[in-house]
Amino acid sequence: MTPDTIILPRDLPLWTDARPYLDVRNNDEHTIVAYGLARALLEQIPEADESVVLPAILLHDVGWKRIPEDLLLLAIGRYPSRKDLVRDHELHSVEIARTILQTHRPEGVDIDAVLAVIDGHDTTREARSINDAVMKDADKGWRTTPHGMRTIAGWYDVPVTEVLMMLRERSNPLMLTPQGRAMAEANTAAVAAEQAIAQYLGHGPEFTTFTATEGAGQWLKSR
Ligand SMILES: [Fe+2]
Ligand SMILES: [Fe+2]
Repeated sequence: MTPDTIILPRDLPLWTDARPYLDVRNNDEHTIVAYGLARALLEQIPEADESVVLPAILLHDVGWKRIPEDLLLLAIGRYPSRKDLVRDHELHSVEIARTILQTHRPEGVDIDAVLAVIDGHDTTREARSINDAVMKDADKGWRTTPHGMRTIAGWYDVPVTEVLMMLRERSNPLMLTPQGRAMAEANTAAVAAEQAIAQYLGHGPEFTTFTATEGAGQWLKSR
């Protein structure tokens, strides 16, 4: 999967319409990475229906745009004080997603099934269907990716150790499929182990960013 082919052609018009609603709290970045995770999980869980899961993950958080930005961090995190806003953003997401889906009517997509997954994606914890489980695992699984951890650490200005604690205590236990659970635990373990490199070696990892520019890869050249 190359960077320009993460979002399926069927879903690109949905993405274009969703984008203006996703420019708060890194939701645009979150959506792209969660969509990529959803596609990977769908490969492992063929009984789930991608035509429900993928439009749902693309549109699930558009409703945050209607919540005052200064209240967003009070609705999530380790000790949320405005949990009511979590329900509010789900209802707003359903409304906005319905308009976007009815505008484009993507072929083979059951609009009501997509909206049913979006409704309650954060406020219900159980798997209401396999599609619901995969969408929720892609959403919560994002937190365990390096991108998710860096983003959460940035929101709250906390060290990675606190993010790891939050994941282990609160987020990873929410994972619903064996595949999603394995992904979340493996991601969390890998970042935790990377943090221990300095303890064992006396220095941190040599490469902390991707240094090469596109086209410079020796693997591409040798093909
Ligand atoms: Fe959400
Ligand atoms: Fe989300």
